[in-house]
Amino acid sequence: MCGIVGYIGKKNATRTVLEGLKRLEYRGYDSAGIAAINASGDIFLKKAVGKIVSLEKKLNPIPSSTLAIAHTRWATHGEPTVENAHPHTDCKNEIFVVHNGIIENHEKIRAALLREGHTFCSSTDTEVLAHLIERCIAFGASDLAEAVEQAVRHVQGTFGLAVIYSREPAVLVGVRRGSPLLIGLGKQEYMLASDASAIVGKTRRVIYLNDNEMAVLTPFSKKIFHLLRSGARRKKELKKPVSMIDWSIEDSQKGGFDYFMEKEIFEAPSVIENALRGRIIARKGEVKLGGLDAVRNRLRDSRRLIIVACGTSYFAGLIGKYLFETFAGLPTDIAYSSEFRYQPSVMDKNTTVLAISQSGETADTLGAIREAKKRRALTLGIVNVVGSSVTREVDAGIYNYAGPEIAVASTKAFISQLSVLVLAAIYLGRMRGFLSSEKSAPILQELLSLPGQAQKILERDVHKIKEVARVYKNHNNFLYIGRKYSWPVALEGALKLKEISYIHAEGYASGEMKHGPIALIDKHFPVLVVSPRDSVYTKTLSNIQELKARGAKIIALASEGDTEIGHHVDHVMTIPKVREELSPILSVIPLQLFAYHMAVLKDHDVDKPRNLAKSVTVE
Ligand code: G6P
Repeated sequence: MCGIVGYIGKKNATRTVLEGLKRLEYRGYDSAGIAAINASGDIFLKKAVGKIVSLEKKLNPIPSSTLAIAHTRWATHGEPTVENAHPHTDCKNEIFVVHNGIIENHEKIRAALLREGHTFCSSTDTEVLAHLIERCIAFGASDLAEAVEQAVRHVQGTFGLAVIYSREPAVLVGVRRGSPLLIGLGKQEYMLASDASAIVGKTRRVIYLNDNEMAVLTPFSKKIFHLLRSGARRKKELKKPVSMIDWSIEDSQKGGFDYFMEKEIFEAPSVIENALRGRIIARKGEVKLGGLDAVRNRLRDSRRLIIVACGTSYFAGLIGKYLFETFAGLPTDIAYSSEFRYQPSVMDKNTTVLAISQSGETADTLGAIREAKKRRALTLGIVNVVGSSVTREVDAGIYNYAGPEIAVASTKAFISQLSVLVLAAIYLGRMRGFLSSEKSAPILQELLSLPGQAQKILERDVHKIKEVARVYKNHNNFLYIGRKYSWPVALEGALKLKEISYIHAEGYASGEMKHGPIALIDKHFPVLVVSPRDSVYTKTLSNIQELKARGAKIIALASEGDTEIGHHVDHVMTIPKVREELSPILSVIPLQLFAYHMAVLKDHDVDKPRNLAKSVTVE
């Protein structure tokens, strides 16, 4: 899996898909490849392990073509090697396939095709698709599109596919089931991509394919169909809405920062503003969330909320649980999407399942939503990427409007998710009569002040945080602790540190420290304590004493004006004082910056950490 881009039209297709691949680099990948066909049907295939520049070197000079597909691969089946990189081809080197997703029954298909005499070059699941299509053509499919449609009938699992065939040099076929795919519309040219970033700069007009839809593109026509079951009669062509991508190529560039991650952390003030814009009537203490209006009655009657998410979004969900219980009095559980799918959770039509996902494409979260639907729950989403799969599967939802997040490690999306969760909790609390407007109005007023407070942190404290990072850059271990609202912040801080600096970091609830992790503590094992002046502050101070007694080096993240904490710890980073329910939105910023500077000091590729992908579209 990872990124797909395809082009058909009058420009040099090889160059166009190569440029697209570069814009997909941010997703993380281990190898890349291109297949191109010129108007006479001559083919060209190149693949390379490592960065796209390695592929580019093999393309020098870039061959001209009118049809091309390309892929960045993040290994799931088979090592990251040239043989396993996409595109994959058939026995005659005529059909080329790039694929995101997983073909679950690939071993069975491969065995059958081997018995029929097909030969395989890779250990991927994807290669079976090229041979299946070859087989369908050999058995009488009238053209490439029909062969692709027949081939995917044999397949179990998920796919977003782009396919070309040297005998049909003016046709590009795309098909999806469970893995995103969109069409970019140009003038006498079309693109296919797994992600709008690959085509932004070429066109803003896109059509999102749904599951079980196939696009057949030529330079002069685009046809979209439902995939047919065997023997079914072809229905009419689908007329699908054209969406506009409302962000520019500049939005997804670094804008003067060294790394996307740094740029995205510095976007915190505008990200909070964008999440809140037009959604608050502060004087009335009301929240407007148009995306939830259609399910208002079911939401009001909900007796239980279950949040499902992965990674950073899961930690936002942990804070969400406290918010929904505090502001809306709604019993709330949270589960990792990957666990929820297989949990025997008791659900009914009075249960609401809320999926939180930056990308809207995480396979486990999509699986969790489908499971919730099966069990009759109302499904909601908090999603950043407009038009993504989660947004199309849930009953209703709220967008983050945080703009594209390019760095693999999520930062601005987390801040945005927390801002939206506060809004959603207050919206529910007001609607269910749990929260009075006298109570909600001052919370919303304070929420509106957060962009300015975040700006203060970014203008004032970066130098200090960098200095602290310099002191600790050679440590191999870190413990992050926090209590109540600061516990998930500690978990997220530790996750950021491990993701990009590769330092072992554990996040723990402060109160749990004495039940295990404290055994690790000595002067070589530093601890970062998230300790704003909140309702559990004195308890956190006791934890600091326990750590100090064991010789720990301690960094405290404290509220401005806290003159006491400095006496007990080695370093203090500060955030402006805000009510505890809102403090995570600010307290995560110094932790993101700390992890960022640790990784820069260690000379890591901050935006593309090893072994990680931006959007994990496999289970
Ligand atoms: C990957 C990313 C994380 C992200 C997680 C969930 O692991 O590297 O940064 O938090 O997926 O992604 P989602 O798009 O569903 O929020």
